[in-house]
Amino acid sequence: MKNKSNTFRSIVLGVGTSLPKNIVTNKDLTMKMDTSEEWIESRTGIKERRIASDGETTSSLGTEAAQIAINNSGLKNSDIDLIILATSTPDNTFPASATVIQASLGIEKGYAYDMQAVCSGFVFALEAADNAIKAGNVKNVLVIGSETFSRILDWDDRGTCVLFGDGAGALVLSSSKEETDRGILSNHLHSDGRYGNLLYVDGGPSTSSQVGFLRMNGHGVFKHAVKKLSSVINEALDHNELTVDEIDWFVPHQANIRILEAVAKKVGLHKDKVIITLQKHANTSAASIPLALYDAVESGKIKKGDLVLLEAMGGGFSWGSTLIRW
Ligand SMILES: CC(C)(COP(=O)(O)OP(=O)(O)OC[C@H]1O[C@@H](n2cnc3c(N)ncnc32)[C@H](O)[C@@H]1OP(=O)(O)O)[C@@H](O)C(=O)NCCC(=O)NCCS
Repeated sequence: MKNKSNTFRSIVLGVGTSLPKNIVTNKDLTMKMDTSEEWIESRTGIKERRIASDGETTSSLGTEAAQIAINNSGLKNSDIDLIILATSTPDNTFPASATVIQASLGIEKGYAYDMQAVCSGFVFALEAADNAIKAGNVKNVLVIGSETFSRILDWDDRGTCVLFGDGAGALVLSSSKEETDRGILSNHLHSDGRYGNLLYVDGGPSTSSQVGFLRMNGHGVFKHAVKKLSSVINEALDHNELTVDEIDWFVPHQANIRILEAVAKKVGLHKDKVIITLQKHANTSAASIPLALYDAVESGKIKKGDLVLLEAMGGGFSWGSTLIRW
């Protein structure tokens, strides 16, 4: 679909990432808790994750990823008009960590805010960025997913703490009025608060004055994730009048290899088209999609002109997809 009407398209100009230095393998975890390498890898596909050290924060990782994305885009920091940071682990309750990143990047104009949709945060942030571009409000947008989930994990709960990791990824979008088939083609977002008790943090400023820890009903999340991700993929395909075979790359939120395989089977997509990085990053929530995107771009898999479908599901529940002609 070419952009023939006189409207704006959101084109991807650059991607960047940042990971904490500290690698924690499944074997490392067996020294600290009653678990096994075999249990973690066979149940989830995860082999290792990065864990932030003192001084590594959501904003510091986000700033580094953002700077790499801007450098790769060919723009200057001062060209950025809007920063949206998808995170559930901000540095502080406020100010928005997006504004901390804005200041760290030396950007003094435009606006910046945090987007909280847990593991779906990155696709929610892309939709907001795309809408701001399409409305003609902004030219260049930095969309960041950055998380330090290790700080809200209960390290005595082996059922959850082995599943998550820290990291950040960023993407620069720029508006174009040119006749092009590139850019964001569709966004489909959903949430259903009835399922909040299946995946949540048991604290917060207004309830406990504490940050709290992540709690999860693994079986419940698994069942809904397969159903909701399959349905949101089909929704995007139907909306764009595409078949599953016409998509070049699927870049899912990286939670669990068994969820990704079950979705692939249900939707009928080829496993080789699914970008998988969870073995080295674990579940990094809102950062997982841009981390996977960066990997796929740097390794030469995703190329200009490819059709790329992003999809995510997380706490809330929230879920959604973004279709991009790269
Ligand atoms: C969490 C998850 C991996 C658990 O896998 P599972 O096959 O459902 O495992 P179960 O919950 O049935 O647990 C089986 C056993 O393993 C044990 N177990 C849990 N964590 C363990 C660990 N880290 N190491 C060893 N054993 C563990 C449980 O105590 C249970 O023991 P029991 O049978 O003696 O009671 C799986 O449910 C899942 O991936 N859910 C989705 C989670 C997710 O993706 N969340 C984020 C979405 S954004």
